[in-house]
Amino acid sequence: MTMALSISIFALLLITFTVAVASTADVDSSLLLSSNQREFDYFQLALQWPGTYCRTTHKCCQKNGCCRNSGAPQHFTIHGLWPDYNDGTWPSCCTKSNFDEKEISTLRKDLDEYWPSLSCGSPSSCHGHKGSFWGHEWEKHGTCSSPVVKDEYNYFRTGLTVYFKYNITEALSDAGYVPSNSEKYPLGGIISAIENAFHISPTVVCSGDAVKELNLCFYKDFKPRDCATRSRMDNSKTSCPKFVSLPTYDSSRLGIVGALESFVI
Ligand SMILES: *[C@@H]1O[C@H](CO)[C@@H](O)[C@H](O)[C@H]1NC(C)=O
Repeated sequence: MTMALSISIFALLLITFTVAVASTADVDSSLLLSSNQREFDYFQLALQWPGTYCRTTHKCCQKNGCCRNSGAPQHFTIHGLWPDYNDGTWPSCCTKSNFDEKEISTLRKDLDEYWPSLSCGSPSSCHGHKGSFWGHEWEKHGTCSSPVVKDEYNYFRTGLTVYFKYNITEALSDAGYVPSNSEKYPLGGIISAIENAFHISPTVVCSGDAVKELNLCFYKDFKPRDCATRSRMDNSKTSCPKFVSLPTYDSSRLGIVGALESFVI
């Protein structure tokens, strides 16, 4: 082998090695930063109606807000604050930040009251484990709300702040739409009541004729806007009929209160 040849082989090896290291580094940094998902377009505040959700509770557990001694919440509660794209899709699991309940301990009272889990299930989180309702919301959705919301504490605090600004339960009851197991209300009337109160147009999701979710949409500066037309809800089979109900839920009727007491003891 000539000297020149061995030098060029060495150079070639060196280049190959350098390229390999560089591309490995690229892969690593993209994994750390995000899974190549672009920044979201707008926020959706998803609210759930406990009167409808709690009907699916057949067995109780401590974390299920439907099972409280005081009964299920009598107001819309938060499902999540979801960063969405204008085309009706959404980013998910954007960083490796694991949910840490300690970070939101100062918000705990409000979260228990206004952002409770309404089931006993353990929703899947992002990294292959099953976790709490709050863990699911933070890891799946919250981690994608950068650069508006940068950490777990601010995610939950922001969700609560927006929720407190738009008291949907109050706007509906002021317009005569109160929880009832016998009344049916025009869907258009419910939507108008919220538009009149807040100048924000909600999307409504039903289970049968019962209102299950009500969603409000916002620009990144939290000014109201319409939700994307092809939203995740429009694609499902849960669109509402012309007349809907806002059922109440009496946890004692199913003996759930007793069940929880024996669970606690
Ligand atoms: C919304 O209004 C209802 C009825 O006025 C009230 O009981 C409830 O506390 C309010 N919710 C919030 C979060 O302020």
